[in-house]
Parts: sequence; structure tokens; C-alpha cells
Amino acid sequence: MIYLDNCATTPLHPKVKEAIIDALDLFGNPSSMHTSGRQVRALIEESRKNIADFFNCSPEEIIFTAGASEANNTVLKSSTTCCASCNENRGHIITSNIEHPSVLNTLKCLENQHIEVTQIKVNNKGIIDPADVEAAIRPDTMMISIMYVNNEIGTIQPIHKIAEIAKKHHIPMHTDAVQAVGKIPIDLQDLPVDFLSMSGHKIYAPKGIGVLFKRRTTKSICPLITGGHQENSMRAGTENTLGIIALGEAIRQCKLEMKENEARIGKLRDQLENGIKKNLDHIIINGDLAHRTYNITNISFVNIEGESILLRLDMHGIAVSTGSACSTGS
Ligand SMILES: Cc1ncc(COP(=O)(O)O)c(C=O)c1O
Repeated sequence: MIYLDNCATTPLHPKVKEAIIDALDLFGNPSSMHTSGRQVRALIEESRKNIADFFNCSPEEIIFTAGASEANNTVLKSSTTCCASCNENRGHIITSNIEHPSVLNTLKCLENQHIEVTQIKVNNKGIIDPADVEAAIRPDTMMISIMYVNNEIGTIQPIHKIAEIAKKHHIPMHTDAVQAVGKIPIDLQDLPVDFLSMSGHKIYAPKGIGVLFKRRTTKSICPLITGGHQENSMRAGTENTLGIIALGEAIRQCKLEMKENEARIGKLRDQLENGIKKNLDHIIINGDLAHRTYNITNISFVNIEGESILLRLDMHGIAVSTGSACSTGS
């Protein structure tokens, strides 16, 4: 099979598989004080440190979640409507019209709870103008949430500029960086976002594990999942220990392989696009070709339905997608 749907999910990296297999028999609860628990706790904290090193942040700023959807929900719901003492469940959030459903549908939910949402429209290449974000700021704007890299066309948003604007106006800034992690170097000492979400299964770790970065100096938020004291009381529930160990290894491999992947996969993407352009008329390569990640191509074949191309390619053992897996059926 030729698998070209890595924005939907990736297979396990062989080193990640090894790390999981090595940890399979470590069943202790990481909150237990006995040896069995402490063994697992040590591996979780090693993984947290790997992730913090990758982003140049502090381990205590890393909160493990069950994926990026949960991380996005946590930021958006918990920092805006969690409890009467936090605010009066009123306010305004700025986002874009090309966010992942885990942001857009969460914001729809919040709109039913009297939060107003402004969706900034991207230009015809899929890029947001930071000036539009600044113009949308109101006295009651409580959050700006803009994705780093779009999952369908690969456009890279001017997140630095938008985060600077948010900082200037003292508004918390969140970025869904699921498709940026491992593709673009992210240094959280340099990028002034307050929150960042990422997902394991886009970077060769298993499904069901993700991270929410919350800057230490950012106002505390209520957990989405309440209960025990896990994750510094930010996310209750016994940890997904195998997922966390796997994610730590996946991030380590990302760091080692990022440069080589960019050169290798970027070349393959260009070859594919050039071959299609040479052999077919009436095609459009979508997005901003100067500001996109190396691993994504989004092509329109004029007058041909995407699904029929997808199914035909599948019959030939080639896996592609016509859009985000989370939008399938919508
Ligand atoms: C940009 C983006 N955000 C969020 C998600 C959701 O991630 P998860 O599957 O870990 O919940 C995805 C996955 O498709 C994504 O591409």
C-alpha cells in the first residue's frame, strides 16, 4: 500500500513500538508509592521531560491528555466558562474559519452558553491576516485560538505575529499545533503563546494520547476532567502510561529525524505535484505554496468528484483523503 494520509494518522515508529513493548509489563499505578508505581512514574516523568526539551519549556508546563481534541476542549471550555468564580460566562473568542472541528464545534457549544465568537476568514490561499485578528479584538475578548498549520492544505499561519498581538492586548493565546509539531521547529521561549495542543498519533505515537502546554505564568484554568490530583490537578484520571511513554519516544525521534524528513518528504511531495501537473490538465494546487509544510499537498481536479478519485486510488492500493478525517460525514 502507498499510504498518503499521514495528516489523518501515522503508523507507529519502530522505536515507539519498541518502547511500548518494553513497558508492557509495567502495570503499576504511577500514583502508587511502592516500587511498581514509582517505576512507571519515572518513565512518565522522563517522557514529560523529553517533550519539554523538544519545545524548550518546563516539564511542569506539559499536561498529558487523551489527544488534541481534549486539549482543545480543555483550553476553550475551561478558560472561558468553567465556573462562576472564574468569570460570568460571557465574553468573546477570536478564531479562524479553517480550524479543526475540535475547535469549531467546541466554540459552537460555547456560543450556546453566551460566549460570542468571531471567525476570522482566511484569504484565498488559506492564510490569516494578523491585522484582521487585531481589528476583531474587543474589550471582552477572553481568548484567541488560531491553528498553527492547517490539516487540509498545510498553510502555516503567522502565529508569531498573532501571538505578539495577543500579548500586546493581554489576551490569552492558544494554538492548535497538531500539524506543526515535528514539521516546524517550535521554541516556546520564543513563541509567546499561552496554550498549545498537540496529538501523538500524527507523529508516529499511538492514538489516544496528546499534550496541552500551559505556560506557567498564564492564569490557571479549571480542569475539564475533575477528580484525582493527576497532572498537577489539571487532568484527573489514571494516566495512559503506555501512551505517554510512547509519546516521549515519538518526540525524541521527531527531534532526531525532523531535518532528514523535511528534505526527503519535501522532495517526494514536489515530485508528485510535478508529475501530476505534467500529465494532467485542469488541476489546481491549493494553499499558499510559499507558506506551507513540506508534507501536505491539496489538489483540486476540476470537474471530478474527490470521493470518486479517492475510491479509485484505494482500489489501486493508494490511500489519500478528501479532507480532515474528523470532518468525514459532515
Ligand atoms: C489540526 C488538528 N487538530 C486537532 C486534531 C484532533 O486530534 P486528536 O485526534 O488527537 O483528538 C486533529 C486530528 O485530526 C488535527 O488535525
